[in-house]
Amino acid sequence: MTSPKLTLTDAEVPASKVDAVVVGTVKGDNGVALAAGTESVDAAFEGRLAELLALLGATGKADEVVKLPTRGSTAAPLLVATGLGKVDGEPAAEQVRRAAGAAARALSGTGRAVTTLSRLDLGAAAEGTALGAYAFTAYRAQSDGGPLERMDLSVPSARAAAPKRELGRAVAVAEAVRAARDLVNTPPNDLYPASFAERAEALARDAGLRTEVLDEKALRSGGYGGILGVGGGSSRPPRLVRLHHEPAAAKARVALVGKGVTFDTGGISIKPAANMDHMTSDMAGAAAVVATAVLAARLELPVEVIATVPMAENMPSATAYRPGDVLTLYGGKTVEVLNTDAEGRLILADALVRAGQDSPDYLIDTATLTGAQVVALGNRTPGVMGTPEFRDRVVTLSQHAGENGWAMPLPDHLRSELDSRLADIANVTGNRWAGMLVAGVFLAEFVDDATTWAHVDIAGPAFNAGSPWGYTAKGGTGVPVRTIAAVLADIAEHG
Ligand code: BES
Ligand code: MN
Ligand code: ZN
Repeated sequence: MTSPKLTLTDAEVPASKVDAVVVGTVKGDNGVALAAGTESVDAAFEGRLAELLALLGATGKADEVVKLPTRGSTAAPLLVATGLGKVDGEPAAEQVRRAAGAAARALSGTGRAVTTLSRLDLGAAAEGTALGAYAFTAYRAQSDGGPLERMDLSVPSARAAAPKRELGRAVAVAEAVRAARDLVNTPPNDLYPASFAERAEALARDAGLRTEVLDEKALRSGGYGGILGVGGGSSRPPRLVRLHHEPAAAKARVALVGKGVTFDTGGISIKPAANMDHMTSDMAGAAAVVATAVLAARLELPVEVIATVPMAENMPSATAYRPGDVLTLYGGKTVEVLNTDAEGRLILADALVRAGQDSPDYLIDTATLTGAQVVALGNRTPGVMGTPEFRDRVVTLSQHAGENGWAMPLPDHLRSELDSRLADIANVTGNRWAGMLVAGVFLAEFVDDATTWAHVDIAGPAFNAGSPWGYTAKGGTGVPVRTIAAVLADIAEHG
């Protein structure tokens, strides 16, 4: 889907001949107030803009959008006031992103607008606008309006190098999130392992990454028993995609792994019918990893990135793997499959071992791995596990990016619950307790103790089954692209 065109402007906002002016409002102690950067627009309303907005019921709370016809006060016929919420001093970047996103959604069907939110935080305003204006319409014969086409971002100086750089980065990041969303939103009849691999390869080649795709024959001769086991029930065979961003002077080598189950029926341990359609998003980790590796190349980040992305469809059939099967995973460890619906950890185990062979300085995997993540943390908070120091670094960066990862432990005692009657490990325990952590403990078995590792469970946050909010549309959210992008940028800076 095409993104809105974002441009910098230092022209007078009230005189701007566009379709709408976007301003930020804040929730003050005595009702709605205007955010900083709105002075010239307020002057065009003779200093009474806050008063007018209050009359219309505005409070300045987050996700509130109030529209006001300007009747000649500004050159644009419409003013859109978007709430930042309570602000103590300067608004947080995430408040600006969400307000920009809510405004962009309210502007669907609009040609061109100008915003003053960029005077609070240019990058956040740009990111929020580009993400809020996202719409996935590839499968509609008819669509009404269409997303906002163009946004001018008001800044003190449009020609300076710094704002250009900031805008360029924000646009690239938003493009990556939008690419991940597109992949997640593509239905499972069209996005299956081979077609997903082709799309990943095409995206990567465009950005200059090296690519390699292992088909089912290559997977068999390579000994990828997890990916083959999970993918065995489908008429559409599995793949393993490898993408390599190799800059000249790399500060570090980062391995990325993402779960690419293009549809998860549960297999022979089949899922209930209710909401099974959400399992179209069970490849969101893979989508995020592909999009972020491509982003690293686009931003020319001085970090080597190797993405290892297993793709399989988990189906029940005469050729499906069964509860009771023992699989030999890549690297030789054996797993007793007690539940075919705990499939993500099996394909990830193969990929983690393969990724480890590249001796990365850091290893990050992400997956829509457990319903238990949703039970514990809900739909907007990824669970982050792994090497404690690195886990906490990922969490801090995720918080700042607005994706809100939260640290979770990997208690040693859970390992024995995965002891198998006959294999090295079982893929599930006999109870439901701490399901997110158990999955993490399982994955840890396939990561070298010396490897600095973080595991991000995005079962809830990857897919928005509810209403749109902030810059988050219905469907694929693109989480955790911005977390991983922030980690790569941080590694580029600090090693
Ligand atoms: N893909 C699911 C996890 C999931 C659940 C993602 C809800 C998004 C929303 C995963 O493959 C799965 O089925 N996990 C099982 C594991 C269990 C059998 C130990 C689960 O969480 O129920
Ligand atoms: Mn499953
Ligand atoms: Zn799954």
